[in-house]
Amino acid sequence: MSDGVVLAIDQGTTGTTVLVFDHAATIRGRAYGEVTQHYPRPGWVEHDAEEIWRGVRMLVGAALADAGVRPAEVRAVGITNQRETTVLWDRETGRPVHHAIVWQDRRTAPLCEELKAAGREDDVRRRTGLVLDPYFSGTKLRWLLDNVDGLRARAEGGELAFGTIDAWLLWQLSGGTAAAGAVHGTDVTNASRTLLFDIGALRWDPALLDLLGIPAAVLPTVRPSATLHARTNPDAFLGAEVPVAGIAGDQHAALFGQACFQEGMVKNTYGTGAFLMMHTGARPVPSRHGLLTTLAWQIDGEPAEYALEGSIFVAGAAVQWLRDGLGVIESAAETEALATSLSSNEGVYFVPALTGLGAPHWDPYARGTLLGLTRGSTKAHLARAALESMAYQTADVVSAMGNDAGLTLHADRPLRADGGAAVNAFLMQFQADVLGVPVEVPRVSETTALGAAYLAGLATGFWKDRAELASRWQLARRYEPRLGESERRRLTTRWLRAVERARSWEQEDA
Ligand SMILES: Nc1ncnc2c1ncn2[C@@H]1O[C@H](COP(=O)(O)OP(=O)(O)OP(=O)(O)O)[C@@H](O)[C@H]1O
Ligand SMILES: [Mg+2]
Repeated sequence: MSDGVVLAIDQGTTGTTVLVFDHAATIRGRAYGEVTQHYPRPGWVEHDAEEIWRGVRMLVGAALADAGVRPAEVRAVGITNQRETTVLWDRETGRPVHHAIVWQDRRTAPLCEELKAAGREDDVRRRTGLVLDPYFSGTKLRWLLDNVDGLRARAEGGELAFGTIDAWLLWQLSGGTAAAGAVHGTDVTNASRTLLFDIGALRWDPALLDLLGIPAAVLPTVRPSATLHARTNPDAFLGAEVPVAGIAGDQHAALFGQACFQEGMVKNTYGTGAFLMMHTGARPVPSRHGLLTTLAWQIDGEPAEYALEGSIFVAGAAVQWLRDGLGVIESAAETEALATSLSSNEGVYFVPALTGLGAPHWDPYARGTLLGLTRGSTKAHLARAALESMAYQTADVVSAMGNDAGLTLHADRPLRADGGAAVNAFLMQFQADVLGVPVEVPRVSETTALGAAYLAGLATGFWKDRAELASRWQLARRYEPRLGESERRRLTTRWLRAVERARSWEQEDA
């Protein structure tokens, strides 16, 4: 391939995907591997960062082999990643000092409570665009420094490096140890999820470092999303030295991959969780309705762009739980036929607050709740309720976006959907129905990896500009809303009653 290719590493919560794109943005090769989930206690979720890096290394080779491309033909590498997941490693050995604490992990809920009780939330929100929830990296990093022997002193002495998964992979790709010249860096989107980053000034915020007791010595350098972050070390990257030129958190990359370049465009990614993002232009829009203000991305040499986000913690994971936790289905795809075997939900609702509730409800103490079961309830009801829950949660967020930004979706501004569960036609149709707005699914469903490739390709001149990228977006299927207004209202009202019952469950117990 004389034009060369761009390689995208999509390091997700459940697995890692590596894709090879050619100049037409066609996928030439791919490789996928799962990531082991560790649940040391209820509400705790961990990953082994070394396993993740070994997997990435192996999958890069496998994807290039699949494409029939030599490493020297790779023009740029883009990284996109599960966000907020917190890694702390030793700069000298390049080895993690603890399992990574995953974004879903709720262990720092008491610390967040404490900070809220001390009246810190408004200030934190003003600086970071975030709320005080265990979701974000800052309190997870603080937990490590407080609970693992010796780490605080080593962190203060400059021996340790903190990063989200992107920074961990950049470090490994660029050499893996301080002696080998490894680069300790991240991009603005990942930094914006740490609870330590001033999203207006685009720098680490000393007041927040102080509030959370984080030594500045552990922090990575923050760069734009599309820029030359580092060059791969040939020992770490199949003998080739290639620019790593794009980094963005998975949801930001998906917004870019969906070509949502204009103010007001909205995408929703239905994966493990579901993440809605609305591009809001060059200005951060503060939220008063439970959404997050976040960086969309920054292209080198251009002003940063912002987004409003609704983070739903459990979406496709509800289906995974039916499969792996309950064992009532064998594959996620089965849920579609099960759901359509019923003509309605027959009053069965599932609030999948398995790791608390995110936007717009924000309750780390909510837990999963099934309502409306009768002797006639079957696994079809569970499957339908799980799929419906993704759509209701999405509708809650869309309504918050309307309140915050005065934005309404409509026939000319549909919801752009992607992610693993967007192949489910029942879900997409039901989504259009409860929103009363069309839902559009693009041809390329790997929008996250595509976005990372686009960022890396733009930074290196492999692709010319955004207009070129936007012109490639192609519709696969559009779902039109079919439900009457009163039925829509009846369903969502009932859903909100169900949410009320799931709230505070864990806290009441304590
Ligand atoms: N046909 C389907 N119907 C409903 N849900 C599905 C279907 N196929 C996959 N899923 C769900 O989609 C999710 C996987 O989607 P995807 O690969 O986009 O996840 P992801 O969030 O990117 O993963 P990661 O968090 O690892 O990045 C799983 O939770 C799975 O249960
Ligand atoms: Mg993903």
